[in-house]
Amino acid sequence: MLKRILSTPLQNLNHHIFYQQNIQVWLKRDDLNHPLIQGNKLHKLQYNLIKARELRCDTLISFGGAYSNHISALSVTGKEQAFKTIGFIRGDELANEPNKWSHTLLEAQKNGMGFIFLSRQEYRQKHIPKFLLKLQEQYPTAYIIPEGGTNLLAVKGFKATATTLEQQCPNWTHLFTAVGTGGTLAGLSQYSPADKRLFGVATLKNSNYLKEEIKKLTTNNNWQLLTQYHGDGYAKSNSAINATQKWFETEFKILLDPIYTNKMVYAFMQELQQGKIKANSKVILYHSGGLQGRLLLRSL
Ligand SMILES: Cc1ncc(COP(=O)(O)O)c(C=O)c1O
Repeated sequence: MLKRILSTPLQNLNHHIFYQQNIQVWLKRDDLNHPLIQGNKLHKLQYNLIKARELRCDTLISFGGAYSNHISALSVTGKEQAFKTIGFIRGDELANEPNKWSHTLLEAQKNGMGFIFLSRQEYRQKHIPKFLLKLQEQYPTAYIIPEGGTNLLAVKGFKATATTLEQQCPNWTHLFTAVGTGGTLAGLSQYSPADKRLFGVATLKNSNYLKEEIKKLTTNNNWQLLTQYHGDGYAKSNSAINATQKWFETEFKILLDPIYTNKMVYAFMQELQQGKIKANSKVILYHSGGLQGRLLLRSL
């Protein structure tokens, strides 16, 4: 079991903007659940690790880009839980140029992770059964985790969070969370009551395809994917998103990450300004962590 803080605070965000609109807003501080395997990553890995142990695997394999929070979290998990780790990284141009490696890759390497760099074309095969079968044959004692850590065991990992939220604020009405692969939204949806409304904020361009993926992971109908707040695509931003992030961090003295939670807060503020969140709503913003990504800004 990963060492973690099970019940992170649900922090009330007091601000005259919310007061004027007659809504209440809280931030679920899952960025505080582990210093390095923060937020949603911890929940996604929890049951996958149990499975890996059951299967007597000694190695964890997964996929990600050079700035992936998941790759970072997996490397720390391997170090903490005595698994070997191998990251299959998008971008074969990085293979012979460690001087171009991101902070994420350098830290993961320090944690003992080995890398295999794949061309973009090869990387696209990461979920194709034939490719995965071959990989499993090559690494017979490895437990293979999909990109972003998203699978049905990852979904199960959000049961405790959703249950705790119900105890912390039983009458919440809306929840906003950032979406990359959709596992976090699916997990929170699956274990939240059917009458709540969960909004997933897509951080990638053209992410409509994710709706079908999310439907495979949750049997609940209480969620919606907002696809219009990605800025200019994954890991990109614009001046409006940056301004909202700066405003939020200054007002509440809480850091957001530059890829996911910044867009989640931006989407919420936009929906609020557009009058889509009615008076008397009780809104939860899910802080899914990812703060290691702030170092990305420094390494660019
Ligand atoms: C900090 C953070 N928030 C949100 C997400 C999105 O989670 P999911 O891939 O489950 O949609 C990720 C990564 O995937 C993340 O690193």
